[in-house]
Amino acid sequence: MKNIDSHSHVRGESVYLDDIPVIRGTLYACVFDSPIAHGKLKSVDTSEVEKCEGVIRVILAGDLIGENQIGGIVPDEPLLADGGVHFVGQPIAIVLAETEEQARKAAKKITADIEPLPVVTDPRVAAANGDLIVPPKKFVLGDTAAAFADCAHVFEGRAEQNGQEHLYIETQGAYAVPMESGGIRVYSSTQGPTAVQRAVCRVTGLPMHKVEVDVQRLGGGFGGKEDQANAWAGICAVATQITGKPVKYALHRMEDMRMTGKRHPYSSDYKIGLDADLKIVAYEASFYQNAGASCDLSPPVLERTLFHCTNSYYIPNVTATAYCCRTNLPPNTAFRGFGGPQGMFVIESAIAHAAEKLGVTAAEIQRANLLEDGDEFPYGQLAESEAAASWSQADASFDFSALRLEADEFNATSKYLKKGIALMPICFGISFTKTPMNQARSLVHVYTDGSVAVSTGAVEMGQGVNTKMAQVAAAVFGLDVTMVKVHTTNTLRIANTSPTAASAAADLNGKATQIACETIRERLLDVAASMLGKETSEGVALSDVDWKDLVMEAHLRRVNLSEHSHYATPGIGFDWSTAKGHPFAYHVYGTAIVGVTVDCLRGRYEIDYVKCCHDFGTSMNTAVGLGQIEGGIVQGLGWMTMEEVVYDENGKLRSNALSTYKVPDIYSVPKEIDVLPLHTNRNNLAIFNSKAVGEPPLMYGIGAYFAIRNAIKAFRDCEPEFDCPFTPERVLMNLYSEPNAEKN
Ligand code: MTE
Ligand code: MOS
Repeated sequence: MKNIDSHSHVRGESVYLDDIPVIRGTLYACVFDSPIAHGKLKSVDTSEVEKCEGVIRVILAGDLIGENQIGGIVPDEPLLADGGVHFVGQPIAIVLAETEEQARKAAKKITADIEPLPVVTDPRVAAANGDLIVPPKKFVLGDTAAAFADCAHVFEGRAEQNGQEHLYIETQGAYAVPMESGGIRVYSSTQGPTAVQRAVCRVTGLPMHKVEVDVQRLGGGFGGKEDQANAWAGICAVATQITGKPVKYALHRMEDMRMTGKRHPYSSDYKIGLDADLKIVAYEASFYQNAGASCDLSPPVLERTLFHCTNSYYIPNVTATAYCCRTNLPPNTAFRGFGGPQGMFVIESAIAHAAEKLGVTAAEIQRANLLEDGDEFPYGQLAESEAAASWSQADASFDFSALRLEADEFNATSKYLKKGIALMPICFGISFTKTPMNQARSLVHVYTDGSVAVSTGAVEMGQGVNTKMAQVAAAVFGLDVTMVKVHTTNTLRIANTSPTAASAAADLNGKATQIACETIRERLLDVAASMLGKETSEGVALSDVDWKDLVMEAHLRRVNLSEHSHYATPGIGFDWSTAKGHPFAYHVYGTAIVGVTVDCLRGRYEIDYVKCCHDFGTSMNTAVGLGQIEGGIVQGLGWMTMEEVVYDENGKLRSNALSTYKVPDIYSVPKEIDVLPLHTNRNNLAIFNSKAVGEPPLMYGIGAYFAIRNAIKAFRDCEPEFDCPFTPERVLMNLYSEPNAEKN
């Protein structure tokens, strides 16, 4: 079944924040942001602005009625800078004008007197200075120190990963509208309507019941709007509170790129120990996370790095430590995979390192260590593993050795074009690792004409969650999906929502919707039975009577046709005092093989194919699932290959536009993406057994890094550093840097 939004998307009729009809008298906001990465904010000069055409007023930190704070986990993030600035792009003042252009023009007229302070952009430097946002986190399984002593082989190294710009097509933005008795309605492009509501309440001082947040859909979020939509909503709400007018702010692309955080860069150390049979016996890793200037979601992102630091492998002795390092960059944040991919890149680097030194393929080590049922993750949960199944089903369909032979034969006769391949198994835990967040609610109305309205806490951001919600309701009632309308995500209809994140939105909100619909269905079955002169226990079906007649009859009998239901994932929990527990409802597995061709004269490369066997459970919508896999893979490839976030030593973003930040376009996607569904009949906690598919496929993209590395190694003997992204420039430097000579 197609995504229910396909038609309105293609016709340009889908409504995003900037398409909401504006109310007369709406003011437009623009932010004046810090030009300096670290300094003492001595004064702000707004005298020139007030003379500008159309300007209504300027708002500074001191004007706020509520608290100047939006930091959710740690209160270290002012809405507007006060006393100091901590990154280039930090909002200092809000300019309000009659038009967007006037607001932008006027904001440029503000100046600030800032006394510069030393700028730190490197997480290891921050750690050495003791500048950690939260204390280090650690996972321990077994005893690595003892285990290393017995290992036949031990290798140590370092891995570096850069960040990634979310580049959602719709930039951040909000529109605040004043309501009766001091209330405010906020339209926001956010993954977390409740997070926005809380932030707005904090900066305005309003109680939550006076602030309504409404979200139609996002033109992409990818984690970037889980926490970072709060600032823009807060800015509009504060301005509305002060002026009594509706206020809108939709960021320009360069404002968005400059002022918002990205995927966290990491710098990591690893040590891996293997026995003579290539079994990984011990693994140690230290992760230095570049959190940026304030906490944001960095600690839970860091935790997920630890949760996924052994990827799909069973390693009996693990010590993994992670440091949340404060630097003078925009606060980095959630990004598809939420720290998991960063952990996986490091173990894959360690395996590649060991393989090269031992003269075996990385695949041999990977295969020898795949998780089996009952194996313990470093955090205590036991695996129900599809790792080996996805590997062997991928091998049976795609024939790894034939692909390897093809690459070897090609390389034997081709001097400057070299092929490389790599295997990339994945294992990703589904559930928020913070257990209380695994709850959701759904409100279902059946109207007297038989049509059905569903509201949930899930936000549609292109991932197709609304389609899945409509499918759930349609399936329970036995209706066509066109009979179901999924409405905006609104804090008045659904309260206290978790953000749409962790790939768990469809499961959590789908289960709540299923419960609500089943409750109404039970009531309707009683009515149907009585209409047929039967007992319900005689096995009546909804389809035994005409749906519309049934609904009307139920209404006339004063039967409740609405339901508000709650779902909380059973059986999960995690105890940070021991760093053990059962945090995930289930894991998603898969295995990909990635093939590339590198042009060893120019450093350019093409991704020839990504073929994967992916664990869908039982997909409830293969079109949506395939879309998520293809999109996730390409986004992962972008992170690993061409997307290069560049800050200079002064903390200024150099890759601040699409002319300087390259993302995969249609020409750089793999020539072939093959997706084979894993055949498995296991039960799981997913909605209709359809496992979450939002984030895991991104991690197949990691394989591209290692495939390119293997192609380079086919050209010359060298040891490229584990340093991504592998841009063509970096490939070229590895192809021709001294001291190693060409191979052939
Ligand atoms: N797909 C599209 N098209 N747009 C997005 O913003 N976000 C990803 C993923 N797929 C995203 C997407 C991220 S980061 C997550 S956590 C999941 O979708 C969230 O949605 P789900 O829980 O419904 O899978
Ligand atoms: Mo996704 S990074 O959990 O929003």
